[in-house]
Amino acid sequence: MVKYKFKDTDATKLQFVYESENNKGILFSGKVGEILPDTSDNTIKIGIGKEEGFCKFKLQENAYKAIKKLVADGIKELAFPENTFGIEDKEYVLLMTEAMARSLYVFDKYKSEKKPVEFETAFFPTEYEEYSKEAEELRTVIKSSFVTRDLVNTRSNEIYPETLAEAAKETLKDTDVKVSIYDYQQIKDMGMNALLSVGQGSEREARFIVMEYMNGGDEKPLAFVGKGLTYDTGGYSLKPSDFMDTMFSDMAGSATVIGAMRAIATNKLDVNVVAVVGAVENCISGKAIKPGDIIESLSGKTIEISNTDAEGRVTLADTVYYTVDKYEPRMLVDLATLTGACLIALGETYTGAVTNNQEAMNKVLNAAKVSNEKIWQLPTDDVFKEYNKSEVADINNTGGRLAGTISAGLFIGEFVKNTPWVHLDIAGTAFLSKEQGIYDKNASGVLVKTLYNLAKENN
Ligand code: BES
Ligand code: ZN
Ligand code: ZN
Repeated sequence: MVKYKFKDTDATKLQFVYESENNKGILFSGKVGEILPDTSDNTIKIGIGKEEGFCKFKLQENAYKAIKKLVADGIKELAFPENTFGIEDKEYVLLMTEAMARSLYVFDKYKSEKKPVEFETAFFPTEYEEYSKEAEELRTVIKSSFVTRDLVNTRSNEIYPETLAEAAKETLKDTDVKVSIYDYQQIKDMGMNALLSVGQGSEREARFIVMEYMNGGDEKPLAFVGKGLTYDTGGYSLKPSDFMDTMFSDMAGSATVIGAMRAIATNKLDVNVVAVVGAVENCISGKAIKPGDIIESLSGKTIEISNTDAEGRVTLADTVYYTVDKYEPRMLVDLATLTGACLIALGETYTGAVTNNQEAMNKVLNAAKVSNEKIWQLPTDDVFKEYNKSEVADINNTGGRLAGTISAGLFIGEFVKNTPWVHLDIAGTAFLSKEQGIYDKNASGVLVKTLYNLAKENN
């Protein structure tokens, strides 16, 4: 296990160096990406670019990238320098802790040849010892996001509804989270036809996963709901191959709430939180749902399925309705890789948000801010609700091409009763096509930290 110590040491010290004329050398001038071990003073110089326009995030990103490389090259210990960057000491320690912790993630379960991480100890100057507890708390959150990333990166032949449910149980087994798993027959008896309709073309049986962490007395719980499509072929509205091959990641919302529950419970926050996942696989067979079918959801509302690829919202209709009906949460946040439109609008950088309650939205935005994660709120004028109108049923599962992220979000909003609700579309941010800042390519684990801080702020 990697250790973090607040202790002065002889270990090699990192030295963050701005790019400047004074440093201009053949091997090193402080440019971003430059790393120079210097045996003369037992340091490793790390270029962090020009001082002009510098910010704490650049420091963190450059530290992260350099440390990742050093760890991959087999370094066993290193020491962080004093904070000389005009940031508060606590923030500096936390930024570096996260950079260090994140640099240790590897996903090599499918490689026959594995390269174990040899890193052993990170040292921080003794003077920062007062922040050691917070650093440890943060490391638990980052480690929990690794659970999320592992689940998202794992392919659908391994993670399907049944195994996702087992993974939730396994992840949370040593915590105070109670995990209940419902099978097909139980889900049917509960009346969740919308959820089951999406999974009916698959050989893999659906699972409904409920995770309860009740450590906040008799307050109403905060609720997290995650989209749990363990694979999304699109169904009869089949996805083109180029868009399909990463759809094992369509359960990222559920993996995020599982990771967040792990973080919350491991750090023993004094809150009541419940996380709920409807897990199904969207496939094609003679039994699969077809475009034009109309189903009756748990809420009693009928849904016209115009497009079987807009399946996430259909599963969430039942999942959020179950959650608000059963728990009457003080606030519900759903996370879903819901629309390609969100990728088009906000790229892989911002998570899109839709809400029915500005106060709840502000809490989420605030939690994202303290977590250094990016969320962008989208407008919800009534006109967008019209997009989801059906001529024959109560609602249509597709709202057309315009403002697709908003109409998809508002569809879910039709099933939350009056609960303060925030929908987070992570289609762009949960699984990255290339590395971005401190986020690696592929599963990012984004928003585990935000959900954690949301639960914490709500204490
Ligand atoms: N899982 C997809 C959304 C998605 C796209 C996630 C790209 C991650 C990356 C979702 O189920 C979907 O297919 N949505 C459709 C909705 C449309 C048919 C209204 C989409 O965005 O094309
Ligand atoms: Zn889809
Ligand atoms: Zn999907």
